[in-house]
Amino acid sequence: MKRGNIVLSGFMASGKTTVGELISRMTGREMVDTDLLVEKAAGISIPEIFAERGEAAFRILERDVVAALAEGDGLVVALGGGAVLDPANVSSMKKNGVIYYLDVSADEVIRRVDFDGKRPLLGEGIEDVERLLGGRRRKYVETADAVVDTGGRRPQEIAGDIVADFRSRCGRVGEGGSGGC
Ligand code: S3P
Repeated sequence: MKRGNIVLSGFMASGKTTVGELISRMTGREMVDTDLLVEKAAGISIPEIFAERGEAAFRILERDVVAALAEGDGLVVALGGGAVLDPANVSSMKKNGVIYYLDVSADEVIRRVDFDGKRPLLGEGIEDVERLLGGRRRKYVETADAVVDTGGRRPQEIAGDIVADFRSRCGRVGEGGSGGC
């Protein structure tokens, strides 16, 4: 029976991986991270893909990875921070999943990240983060099935809320339902 995917979207350092791992532990679902799958497909790291092949090449790889995951079921999917900017990725994920946007402020992002070059689009400081996040936020909200406020909240609490929401939309987690479930 179809169980649907729990899909996590959001800006860099919004907590997708941490929350995804917690949801995976709570539900027994497998967690997949599109960034890791892109790196595996390319055989090089994300900073290397950006440096050697450019962002457009990264986005093509990302789109292929996301399309393949739409065929999966019962997964927790952590999307790269720019994935939902491509409508193809949104329709792939909505085919068989519920998209949760982890809403985070620019200040919080700054507190969490190192500007160490591991995230090629992050820029150099608060102004870059504000500009990128400000330009994207509407898209994040519009493409999500649910917006999850992460401000001042523990990852466990956020993961618990998402599992409860998914359960109410889709029946008991793992039992299947309809509309992305
Ligand atoms: C990106 C976010 C990154 C990664 C790539 C591009 C973005 O993922 O996909 O560097 O455009 O926001 P994380 O959100 O997991 O850092």
